[in-house]
Amino acid sequence: MSKVSFPLSKVYGLLEPGPVVLVSTAREGRVNIMTMSWHTMLEFEPPLVGCVISNSNFTFDLLKATKECVINIPTVELSKQVVGCGNSSGRTVDKFKGFGLAPVDASCVEAPLIDQCYANLECRVVDQKMVAKYNFFILEVVKAWVDPEKPHPRTIHHLGEGAFMVAGETIHLPSKMK
Ligand SMILES: Cc1cc2nc3c(=O)[nH]c(=O)nc-3n(C[C@H](O)[C@H](O)[C@H](O)COP(=O)(O)O)c2cc1C
Repeated sequence: MSKVSFPLSKVYGLLEPGPVVLVSTAREGRVNIMTMSWHTMLEFEPPLVGCVISNSNFTFDLLKATKECVINIPTVELSKQVVGCGNSSGRTVDKFKGFGLAPVDASCVEAPLIDQCYANLECRVVDQKMVAKYNFFILEVVKAWVDPEKPHPRTIHHLGEGAFMVAGETIHLPSKMK
């Protein structure tokens, strides 16, 4: 893998714009991927991410059991795989094989990174208080990776009913944050 370690203090900047992500999980040698757009940053460092994962999804069962996952951030080139992973279930399909995605060992969690994604966030579930009511998990990012060869990743952003916005131009404005 040609990715380099990415500072945890900068992880929020990868997720704040709300890209559609692929959540990978693993349990007893079985791996899975789920498309997810309902996520939000909750804290800078350690980075905390809140996300809704429906209890009807296979991913919910794997995450509940292992308390670990990877949030993989795809770019527009992976659109077909994103839609495919969001319209099939790991209960009946091996999505890594079915969609030609390559698993790579993570460093802190059992769930694999998806090689083709430009960034990968290894996460542990740290709070399940809102799972029963909202299917809302709070994840801590414990390790982050980015592809240095993709400085301007064209992420995709779900607008509903099959419509997606593709990230475009970046502009820089005054900020109090160092
Ligand atoms: C663009 C898109 C965004 C989605 N966002 C979410 C989400 O935020 N939470 C969720 O539970 N399911 C979401 N889904 C649906 C799951 O990806 C879908 O139910 C998937 O089949 C679950 O796979 P699994 O059963 O292998 O876990 C989304 C699907 C698409 C296409």
